[in-house]
Amino acid sequence: MTQDIRKTAATQSWDKAGWRAYPRVQMPDYLDPVALEAVESQLRRYPPLVFAGEARRLKSQLADVGAGRGFLLQGGDCAESFGEFSADNLRDTFKVILQMAVVLTWGAQMPVVKVGRMAGQFAKPRSAPTETIGETELPSYRGDIINGFDFTPEARIPDPQRMLSAYTQAAASLNLLRAFSTGGFADMHRVQSWIADFVGGPEAAKYREIAGRIGDAMAFMQAAGVNSDTAHQLSKVDFYTSHEALLLEYEEALARVDSTSGLPVAGSGHMIWIGDRTRQPDGAHVEFARGVQNPIGLKCGPSTTADDLKVLMAKLNPENEAGRLTLIARFGAGKVGDHLPRLVQAVKEEGANVVWSCDPMHGNVIKSSTGYKTRAFDSILREVREFFGVHKAEGTIPGGVHFEMTGKDVTECTGGVRAVTDEDLSDRYHTACDPRLNASQSLELAFLVAEELRARREGAAADLAAKAV
Ligand code: PEP
Ligand code: CO
Repeated sequence: MTQDIRKTAATQSWDKAGWRAYPRVQMPDYLDPVALEAVESQLRRYPPLVFAGEARRLKSQLADVGAGRGFLLQGGDCAESFGEFSADNLRDTFKVILQMAVVLTWGAQMPVVKVGRMAGQFAKPRSAPTETIGETELPSYRGDIINGFDFTPEARIPDPQRMLSAYTQAAASLNLLRAFSTGGFADMHRVQSWIADFVGGPEAAKYREIAGRIGDAMAFMQAAGVNSDTAHQLSKVDFYTSHEALLLEYEEALARVDSTSGLPVAGSGHMIWIGDRTRQPDGAHVEFARGVQNPIGLKCGPSTTADDLKVLMAKLNPENEAGRLTLIARFGAGKVGDHLPRLVQAVKEEGANVVWSCDPMHGNVIKSSTGYKTRAFDSILREVREFFGVHKAEGTIPGGVHFEMTGKDVTECTGGVRAVTDEDLSDRYHTACDPRLNASQSLELAFLVAEELRARREGAAADLAAKAV
């Protein structure tokens, strides 16, 4: 069956506006088509935010991840907001991602591909179309690119002008991220000293040994003459952007034709993903994503069937290109074993090239005793461990992790060594949507995931040695 779908998808023509003929969900109904068209036409004239060559480079790095020669770290806000936008916020999130990447590199002993949920992560799918507070029912907030967070009728009206503000913010963010990545800020020695600061505190002492081993490795390289001046690689990093391609008017307006290959490319971010609520095989979001050459993420939740997945893989990656498709599993702690094996099986049956990544955030949202939407650090960790466990049992590759996180010291998720309790949540609960790991929780999680990766490597080495005897 999927053979035919693949053949059709490979030859079927595609147009960036083609999605308009397909059923759409989770998208706003703009009231003023003239105002909408004016914004779209302006965006069509703007430069793309990312370039095809960069998206191709990410794809080739993800191909390595899929083959077990790299590890993917994707992270950032649940929803970027206009209000929280600042250079400091960008810098702090970038800084934590770099620290996590160094720790994970130690664990995996492989390059870590760094992808931010940044510079475009503005549109949100919602579980209910409206929100009620007291007697008042209003349309749900759908992210700053669509409507306003304030609980007023005016704020909740979808406003196309917001796409222009989102574009501007994304462009300014990318400009700073590019400078951070190459201008010396990302130097490995600096990153290592930030990690040393974290483990210097009394709570994080249990990670000191790992940090020490990372420090030793750096000192060895320096002694051997590899330093930031001689090895350019140590002073700059590849950093990519990603977001959920939910608002298709925006995506369409920023789609471009790559002058090198002549193929369409999404110009809004290096990698785009399809959410768990918008992955209908015959829906508008899949139709748009199938035609652009960027790496595509696909969220897989408890309702994803093996058949759905097979159809989606055939449509989204008809040529079975390595690095094109990342399956982002998000089931919830305690549920990975119920769902992931059937999907891993489906991938095996199709002989499909995919990257398996774990999003331990979206299946673990709970309401705290103090009324806040939160996630417990322990559930997040448990889901990652279950994900690793299933891949070990299936002999497949756990290729990466996907976190909602920020570099700020927020109190949105509970737990971690600098324990956040239910009572603390009200202190610094700033998210525009889902609760994020704070800087300390993010880095701690990286240490714990690195230990898993280490154990996996050592286990695999021991298995090989046992076979050799
Ligand atoms: C998200 O990543 O913010 C999100 C809404 O995820 P999902 O589609 O998996 O629910
Ligand atoms: Co979210």
